[in-house]
Amino acid sequence: MKDYQARAEKVLMNVVKRLPVVLVQGKGARVWDDEGREYLDFVGGWAVDSLGHSPSILSSTLREQSERLIQVSNQFYSVPQIELAELLVENSCLDQVFFCNSGAEANEGAVKLARKYGKVHLNGAYEVITTYGSFHGRTLSMTAATGQEKFKTWLSPLPPGFVHIEYDNVEKIKKATSFQTCAVMLEPVQGEGGVNIPHEDYLTKVEKWCQEKGILFILDEVQTGMGRLGSLFAYEQYHVEPDIMTLAKGLGGGVPIGAILAKDRAAVFKPGDHGSTFGGNPLSCACALAVVRFILSNNIPRNAAKVGEYLLSQLKKVATEFEAIREARGKGLLCALEFKDDIAEDVTLRAAEKRLLVNRVKANAIRFMPPLIISKEEVDEAINILKEVLWNLNTYSIPSR
Ligand SMILES: Cc1ncc(COP(=O)(O)O)c(C=O)c1O
Repeated sequence: MKDYQARAEKVLMNVVKRLPVVLVQGKGARVWDDEGREYLDFVGGWAVDSLGHSPSILSSTLREQSERLIQVSNQFYSVPQIELAELLVENSCLDQVFFCNSGAEANEGAVKLARKYGKVHLNGAYEVITTYGSFHGRTLSMTAATGQEKFKTWLSPLPPGFVHIEYDNVEKIKKATSFQTCAVMLEPVQGEGGVNIPHEDYLTKVEKWCQEKGILFILDEVQTGMGRLGSLFAYEQYHVEPDIMTLAKGLGGGVPIGAILAKDRAAVFKPGDHGSTFGGNPLSCACALAVVRFILSNNIPRNAAKVGEYLLSQLKKVATEFEAIREARGKGLLCALEFKDDIAEDVTLRAAEKRLLVNRVKANAIRFMPPLIISKEEVDEAINILKEVLWNLNTYSIPSR
């Protein structure tokens, strides 16, 4: 393999445990490695490649827009940024948009917005309530916001202002709310935490509590948004309306872009309060615009709902067939298999060896987040490989390279 692995280990910071696979090409739900081997991709760039790999709509938009205008500063207006914001506003319950470059950056901005709201409307309240098991990004503040100790062990002191409570329990939010609270920030379904799905009425109860207390209700839809859960935004399925919502991942279909969306009353930023050099650049915005238009005009969320339901039904069937599995769970095309033991890494490696890519989300759980254009036939193919892997659990040997 042309020594890529050895070369990478020399020059790339060692922040992630990579599979021994060097990907060089992709189309739809398929990717190819440097030795020409084909894989079925149920990782999807960590829930990013909503329309599959290198969709023609993205390559043509990239080409056209890069020839017209790639980057201008936000000191000027640019057309793709305005059109993308209009499209997101028309199709959501939010009124105003700020564009950035990633999920963590979107959440940082959302927390800054909530703090400004606290300053202006809540006597300086600044605390944000978040949940255990959550994941909001890797910046210092978003690591502080994230409710998983494993990301923070050596990082202290972390920025203050975050209070963590149990997920899917509104009473804990009520208890944690004080005169210092300006917002509650949640994922509609916890993704990195292991695909944790709350009770149907959880978000409604949280929304009601936030309204009663006059604090902001922030939904981190970085992973769940843009059709992943079977509706354009997850909040639609839970019949709530956040005051602030963050997006990234699937928004650009693989091109980096993030966004903060807010209701008019929560959009309290004034010139100078926030900014980004690359955020909202014409190239990323034109790509996201093409992706969102495609998602809407082809009803991609419906495919995510339909095929997602099928995937979950198949995973549940697999769960009944294999002792090693504790539970199959999911919503739309965000699904997980939880094992009784810590075998997720083993399963992930074996699956890759058999040309299926899945994500080890916890020591005892794997996650499935294929492109939203995945077909039932491709799900069948993935399930067959998975079953083969589970059958052979005891005869595994680490691939040579
Ligand atoms: C819910 C959620 N929020 C935020 C992030 C951080 O996004 P990014 O890696 O683009 O900074 C992630 C990434 O997995 C996420 O799942």
